[in-house]
Amino acid sequence: MVHKVKGAVVRSKGAPVTLETILVPDPGPGEALVDILTCGVCHTDLHYKQGAINDDFPFLLGHEATGVVSAVGPDVTEVAPGDRVVLNWRAVCGECRACAKGQPQYCFNTHNATQKMTLEDGTELTAALGIGAFAEKTLVAAGQCTKVDPEADPAAIGLLGCGVMAGIGAAINTGNVKRGDSVAVIGCGGVGVAAVAGAALAGATTVIAVDIDAKKLDRAKDIGATHTVDSSAVDPVEAIRELTGGFGADVVIDAVGRPETYKQAFYARDLAGTVVLVGVPSPEMTLELPLLDVFGRGGSLKSSWYGDCLPSRDFPMLIDLYRQGKLDLDAFVTERITIDQIEEAFDKMHSGAVLRSVVEL
Ligand SMILES: NC(=O)c1ccc[n+]([C@@H]2O[C@H](COP(=O)([O-])OP(=O)(O)OC[C@H]3O[C@@H](n4cnc5c(N)ncnc54)[C@H](O)[C@@H]3O)[C@@H](O)[C@H]2O)c1
Ligand SMILES: [Zn+2]
Ligand SMILES: [Zn+2]
Repeated sequence: MVHKVKGAVVRSKGAPVTLETILVPDPGPGEALVDILTCGVCHTDLHYKQGAINDDFPFLLGHEATGVVSAVGPDVTEVAPGDRVVLNWRAVCGECRACAKGQPQYCFNTHNATQKMTLEDGTELTAALGIGAFAEKTLVAAGQCTKVDPEADPAAIGLLGCGVMAGIGAAINTGNVKRGDSVAVIGCGGVGVAAVAGAALAGATTVIAVDIDAKKLDRAKDIGATHTVDSSAVDPVEAIRELTGGFGADVVIDAVGRPETYKQAFYARDLAGTVVLVGVPSPEMTLELPLLDVFGRGGSLKSSWYGDCLPSRDFPMLIDLYRQGKLDLDAFVTERITIDQIEEAFDKMHSGAVLRSVVEL
């Protein structure tokens, strides 16, 4: 059986998001069909729309979602109909070079649904990050469903499906932030503020939030930043050094992903410190740095895909912390919107008005 549902599609580079009827097949082997409850609007959806990820239009957007499994393929054992799940884009294969080395967080062959969702005329859709959850139903690999506590607010915990996990993980997994560390986070949207929360959770004693938008800085302070720097007004490298005894932070996280913010991160970290790039650059961006500084300053320069998370390990753990009041996921949900308001949510992302808009389906 094929299910006809509404979904948010971008047909070509820069085209507006349109609501289309999409066809979602019943799950085959290894697949799960999920009724979507909520899906957050992540900056990566905007990157897709702008053609900055790849050219495989049309895209079915949305990838930060909670839902209920409605059907599973014949051989699926990990989830069953009725399960409340957060969708993930890291269903590890267990067989690639990374998995074989015991580092499944780097899996090079993550699973997505094998069958394609389509437009009514049969045009195949590319689901954003293999999820496509701005839709009433979506089809994913069963491993993309992480079973979670059905009592937790779906809008809040769904954000773990991408941006919030990416930010928290950039701090605790990739950056390996330790008790007593100093951490600076450049860019305080959903991802950056989550990195602030992650650094605070890990016990960092100095957490510096940097943004060009003062509204974002207020929110970062509520979520765990000990200091804020408005980099539209002052040099963030100097400011971060001043706040860390003149040395720079142990870990600096770039949650913007532009050459200028990466350079700020590079020079705002202490000798032998760590830079974590979690913001996603566009294809035309290049970086120039004195190689002697790369060598001389030592330490490590890391990228963080999805916060180096393992969904089955990290989502339930973070939901436990949320339910214990130690991680304020509610603070990330600025507004709840309907599926026809995604374009407006992209505009608000630019205006700094929201941390996350969450579509309720
Ligand atoms: N690595 C991953 O796995 C992963 C996952 C999700 C999102 N992302 C990426 O992370 C980035 C942030 O996503 P988001 O959803 O938080 O976006 P967002 O638009 O909500 O936030 C971006 C923030 O950066 C600030 N900013 C912009 N230019 C700046 C500058 N020059 N200096 C300081 N601050 C600046 C903005 O004011 C805003 O607060 C995006 O590039 C997104 O694609 C990466
Ligand atoms: Zn693998
Ligand atoms: Zn995302």
